[in-house]
Amino acid sequence: MDGAVAARSSPDAVSLTQEPVLVCTEAQLLREGRWSGQVHGRDVVVFHHLGGCYSMDRICHHAGGPLQDGDIEDIAGHACIVCPWHKIKITLATGESLYRAIDPATIKQRPPKTRWTSKGVKQRTHTAEVRDGNIYVTLSNDEQKVDSDYYYSEEYKKLVSASKRGTT
Ligand code: FES
Repeated sequence: MDGAVAARSSPDAVSLTQEPVLVCTEAQLLREGRWSGQVHGRDVVVFHHLGGCYSMDRICHHAGGPLQDGDIEDIAGHACIVCPWHKIKITLATGESLYRAIDPATIKQRPPKTRWTSKGVKQRTHTAEVRDGNIYVTLSNDEQKVDSDYYYSEEYKKLVSASKRGTT
């Protein structure tokens, strides 16, 4: 995959509570494959995949889709959640959004070849860990915003508020 580590989308700071939260038992996660709910007011999903635990914002950065309902697929060697709304592929480990870009070396071919490429980190990932048979999530405190932070912004809250008042 090209461009695996790309610049974040916005320089604005983010600050999230760092206290780990017990979200479910390991047995429950193994049985159901995923857990979703709130951690310190943030909508979060936890996936169990091939022996690993992964956590990220539950609301898709693209247009608000429910990532907890997506399928997990291997894309170019990266385990990805595929958003059920518009099929964007997000790496479980890093929150990068992947897409198929035209390989410039084949631009004159008909059709040109494509390869999986990263748009950069678009979904905030968190830390999920097993302790004494339970799953704990610690929110990421990476200061730089990523696209999925939009759903916790003042801008989004104003939009929702205006929508409820019928002024949008
Ligand atoms: S909302 Fe997730 S791909 Fe569009």
